[in-house]
Amino acid sequence: MKKSIKLTLIGSFAALSLFAGESGAELFKEKCAVCHMQTKPTPEQKRNMVAPPIMGVMFHVKEKYGDDKKKAIEFIKDYVMNPSEDKALCLPRSIKRFGLMPSQKGSVTQEELEKIAEYMYDNFPPKGFKHPKMK
Ligand code: HEC
Repeated sequence: MKKSIKLTLIGSFAALSLFAGESGAELFKEKCAVCHMQTKPTPEQKRNMVAPPIMGVMFHVKEKYGDDKKKAIEFIKDYVMNPSEDKALCLPRSIKRFGLMPSQKGSVTQEELEKIAEYMYDNFPPKGFKHPKMK
């Protein structure tokens, strides 16, 4: 598993140097989707996940920041570069299971992150999403 993540990361660096000016969706796919699924995981995928799916992440971000898109984006931009347990909005059990997110410093620029965060805010969680916590 670890090895395949590394290979995918190297692949995305190579792709990156070829394309400038990508959309938030494309950037997310390259830089974040290697760990964060964009669809609801099947039970099989759930067992193999290395990070919470992005719909769950954004559920928590919006739980805290709601309609304040600017603050939500600031939070995402900061967390991706400087993750820490005391900033984390996701459930403590997520960090227990997956470990703290590794800082993405050096693999994503501020401009790219701005686009990625905006894409995340505008598209997740999808309509009708129910967090497992809400059961
Ligand atoms: C190597 C795997 C990995 C990559 C790549 C990755 N993440 Fe994460 N991310 C995690 C893990 C694991 C967590 C859950 C633990 C935590 O919150 O720190 C997480 C949590 C998060 C959170 C929630 C923080 C909270 O409040 O708890 C956000 C927001 C986030 N990631 C955004 C991103 C974005 C944006 C990218 C792409 C630029 C990205 N991540 C790339 C592994 C990754």
